[in-house]
Amino acid sequence: MPVIQKTGALICRYRIFGSEMANPESERIPLRFEEIGWEDEARDAVKEFCEKAGLPASSAPWGKVVRIFVLRGLDDRIEASARIEMIYGRPFVESVAVRADLRGRGLGREIVNHAISRAKELGYDKIWAIARVPEFYERLGFVKETDRELTTRQKKDCLKCDQYLKECHPLLMRRDIE
Ligand SMILES: CC(C)(COP(=O)(O)OP(=O)(O)OC[C@H]1O[C@@H](n2cnc3c(N)ncnc32)[C@H](O)[C@@H]1OP(=O)(O)O)[C@@H](O)C(=O)NCCC(=O)NCCS
Repeated sequence: MPVIQKTGALICRYRIFGSEMANPESERIPLRFEEIGWEDEARDAVKEFCEKAGLPASSAPWGKVVRIFVLRGLDDRIEASARIEMIYGRPFVESVAVRADLRGRGLGREIVNHAISRAKELGYDKIWAIARVPEFYERLGFVKETDRELTTRQKKDCLKCDQYLKECHPLLMRRDIE
């Protein structure tokens, strides 16, 4: 199991992607979680990563960013990112992105689950997402948020984005944290 070091949630592990690799050793990718604050210099590299992944609002948080998580691989390259952000007075998992050539291998699940467990440690029992890919969040146990006030606020805010209802058809979703 990962070890969280005192200096700030540095987690090392090895994953092997897929079970039928021709050469599993070459597919062994060392990954480590890193947690940074919104004031940290590394924030800019994460913003750039999110923008490359096609996330429009990555450089402009909706609310107050509480934590940013990145998964780094070889050469410290960013492979995935997510953050916890307070929006409408609630914790949201935001700006979830996985490097394009590593998608479909469980990294998105890994980083969102990491954000959820950190949210739990921070004392929250629910977490929300403005999901561009609702099917992905469904697989991770999120359900559609039906609270009228919240959904109305989210739609009103989404209207300010030029991707809304063009490239992006977001759904407000919620997950209870056990
Ligand atoms: C959405 C994204 C983060 C998913 O990351 P990923 O590493 O490919 O996802 P995972 O491999 O961890 O998939 C987890 C589960 O979600 C499902 N899933 C992932 N992407 C999906 C998609 N586009 N449509 C439907 N299901 C999807 C997977 O099939 C898997 O299901 P399983 O429970 O059967 O295994 C990634 O595609 C991405 O970075 N997209 C661009 C940025 C973006 O749009 N981010 C916003 C996300 S709301």
